[in-house]
Amino acid sequence: MGATIAGDALHRTSWCPPFITLEGIDGSGKSTQAALLAEWLEAETGRPVLRTFEPGGWEAGQALRDLILHGRIPDAATELLLFLADRKGHLAEVVLPALAAGQVVLCERYTDSTRAYQAGGHGADPAFLERLVAACDFPVPDLTILLDLPPRTAAKRLADRGGGDRFEAEGLDFMERVARAYAEIARREPRRVLEVPAAGAPEDVAREVRRGVRRHLGVLL
Ligand code: TYD
Repeated sequence: MGATIAGDALHRTSWCPPFITLEGIDGSGKSTQAALLAEWLEAETGRPVLRTFEPGGWEAGQALRDLILHGRIPDAATELLLFLADRKGHLAEVVLPALAAGQVVLCERYTDSTRAYQAGGHGADPAFLERLVAACDFPVPDLTILLDLPPRTAAKRLADRGGGDRFEAEGLDFMERVARAYAEIARREPRRVLEVPAAGAPEDVAREVRRGVRRHLGVLL
């Protein structure tokens, strides 16, 4: 994914739209930042940006989303497989056709969520997870923005918001494990994963996101 040829004329004819994912613990502000970033990317690239999300961002996905977030799932492996099934369908129906049509894709949550929540949070076997991910042949994002917010701060935001799914109901220990797993991914893959502190005002966070996107994706924009 992404452009490989420099030089203006070639760059224009061979432009490949970037696939960008947004990650972070519950309450870290992903949807707010996705909206601000999509607007900026459209202005910056002059191209349409497709905003989408997992789990459930495709036609049959809503039923899967309800099952995953509110159903009774017996074990971590079943939960893992449901998220991967949702991802496969979402890629086939939404993400890959959009990229093929020249749209920038901005997706809230993707494989790093599975790594952080199912392996980090729920103890799914990381080696099993990586084998399945490799077998599914999921494309690797050109850039992943990880919104970094202390779990305690996120928990306060979520409490103010009310409602929530079974992941949000897991409590602080769980979210701390998820946050640690995210931090580990960012440490391992600094070229793909851009960590942005997310405790500030939305506009300040958005400015940092834009700066990082320019730095990481300059040639693709
Ligand atoms: P989401 O709708 O993004 O929740 P929020 O907007 O509150 O962040 O995602 C719902 C939940 O699904 C979220 O708690 C994280 C969880 N999730 C996983 O556990 N694994 C995954 O692979 C994905 C995509 C999401």
